[in-house]
Amino acid sequence: MASVASTAKVELKGVKKRFGNKVVLDGLDLVIERGQSLVVIGGSGTGKSVMIKCVLGILRPDAGEIFVDGQEVTRLGGRARDAYLRKFGMLFQGAALFDSLPVWENVAFGLIQGRGMGRRQARDIAFEKLAKVGLGPDVGELSPSELSGGMQKRVGLARAIAADPEIIFFDEPTTGLDPIMSDVINDLIVATRSTGTTALSITHDLISARKIADRIAMLYKGKIIWDGPTAEIDHSGNPYVDQFIHGRAVGPIQMEVKA
Ligand SMILES: Nc1ncnc2c1ncn2[C@@H]1O[C@H](COP(=O)(O)OP(=O)(O)OP(=O)(O)O)[C@@H](O)[C@H]1O
Ligand SMILES: [Mg+2]
Repeated sequence: MASVASTAKVELKGVKKRFGNKVVLDGLDLVIERGQSLVVIGGSGTGKSVMIKCVLGILRPDAGEIFVDGQEVTRLGGRARDAYLRKFGMLFQGAALFDSLPVWENVAFGLIQGRGMGRRQARDIAFEKLAKVGLGPDVGELSPSELSGGMQKRVGLARAIAADPEIIFFDEPTTGLDPIMSDVINDLIVATRSTGTTALSITHDLISARKIADRIAMLYKGKIIWDGPTAEIDHSGNPYVDQFIHGRAVGPIQMEVKA
């Protein structure tokens, strides 16, 4: 069943996902318009990464539909799935780099393996993307295990943008980076937007969210409980959003901390 007259780039409808008896996504609805930069916020363990993994087909939802460019994608397999995944660039929460490959080959991996690009051209692009995240050619020849956590994150980011994808998912792009490097990364994300890329980012970093997002959505108990333009986050009128953005321990959101 095709999504009717939808202009959305990505649309989740009633997505449910549970692990055992733990319900993580409980009928999640979310729309990302073409060219938009959406940031999803929400507490640790609320299912933000699970949501992204459902869109990428790494996890299969128990119920609901996911449309990308109007195509339902939760049951894609084989070549259709490969073609689908080529639309995406992904920065995973842990950088998820291959230690057996030098940094530049990690960045070039999708170009060489996914798109059949020649190694020399892919290498040039890899170094160009590394430069965009502030890493010089010397770093390109190192093994990921020789880098700091923040440098690994930046390599993951260079890999995510390597093929100039239509849609980029950034899972915690600035976590573990110093404030100045965070802002370099924010600028980079803003720059990818100006080329028409659709972006979905997950972050706990409200400074980053305010800079990179057109819209912010908050996930709580398996659903999007607030969704609005970035400028409205400070007067959302939603006590959950208020508690979250001000980082208050006391409020409607109860942390599951055992005394
Ligand atoms: N493959 C899996 N098998 C079982 N449980 C899982 C799996 N992946 C995630 N979960 C559970 O789903 C819940 C949501 O996890 P998720 O990684 O999406 O959280 P998150 O919102 O990204 O949190 P954080 O902000 O800490 O990254 C957690 O309770 C987690 O334990
Ligand atoms: Mg996560």
